[in-house]
Amino acid sequence: MNHGTLERHSLLLLVAILIVVSIGGLIEIAPLFYIGSTIEKVQGMRPYTPLELEGRNIYVREGCYLCHSQMIRPLRDEVERYGHYSLAAESMYDHPFQWGSKRTGPDLARVGGKYSDEWQRAHLADPRSVVPESVMPPYAFLEKTPLDYRNIADQLKANRAVGVPYTEADIANAKTDLEAQADPNSDGADAIVKRYPKAQVRDFDGNPKQVSEADALIAYLQMLGTLVDFSSYKADAPENKR
Ligand code: HEC
Repeated sequence: MNHGTLERHSLLLLVAILIVVSIGGLIEIAPLFYIGSTIEKVQGMRPYTPLELEGRNIYVREGCYLCHSQMIRPLRDEVERYGHYSLAAESMYDHPFQWGSKRTGPDLARVGGKYSDEWQRAHLADPRSVVPESVMPPYAFLEKTPLDYRNIADQLKANRAVGVPYTEADIANAKTDLEAQADPNSDGADAIVKRYPKAQVRDFDGNPKQVSEADALIAYLQMLGTLVDFSSYKADAPENKR
């Protein structure tokens, strides 16, 4: 019958295969042109504060991603060890994302709040002082190096250009917000929590005299995985739908 004709003519068969495959392709690809985003909205996600953003820069600069992933896979062993599997929305403000592909050390996607600032400080300065068997290199210079944040407003602008919803006010206040987050006694401490819900305001490096690179990196580490409240998160809840 018809099918016999198809099977006996290789060129005809090829054309038929192409037609069938392109139908499948169209069904998968065409909707992507009509929906604004493929990332499911999730309550609690917000852009990084200026200090966290600087901390993230140091994380990238020092190559922490070469040994640490930030991507908890939906597998039982990972979820039991690290917590809820990573959601796409949790890295939607990451440019570039820090999923990583190698785990010499543990995943850091939910390391925020796991340890005290003191522990983080000691661990960064000399990992073996708190984890004797650690093979992580020391980063003692971070505490001694003042953070260079002269271009923080431009960094927010650059992030806005690629889709991070920083407002004019966020950009205008970037520098004061950055200083305020590392100084709990400053006047701007309330303003920053208003602008960036759940922002943690304190002296991360324990040295009130300067804003160091350790301040920024620890502020970043301590917020990782803390924005989404997983005690109430349900993947199919209406408020998490686009
Ligand atoms: C050569 C690989 C390597 C590099 C580079 C590295 N780490 Fe690690 N990291 C490890 C290992 C191994 C551990 C587990 C032992 C330990 O706790 O020190 C670890 C542990 C950690 C932990 C504790 C995680 C937990 O859940 O207990 C944090 C936080 C951390 N690293 C942050 C960083 C940061 C920030 C950087 C970049 C400045 C960095 N690491 C660079 C290998 C590395």
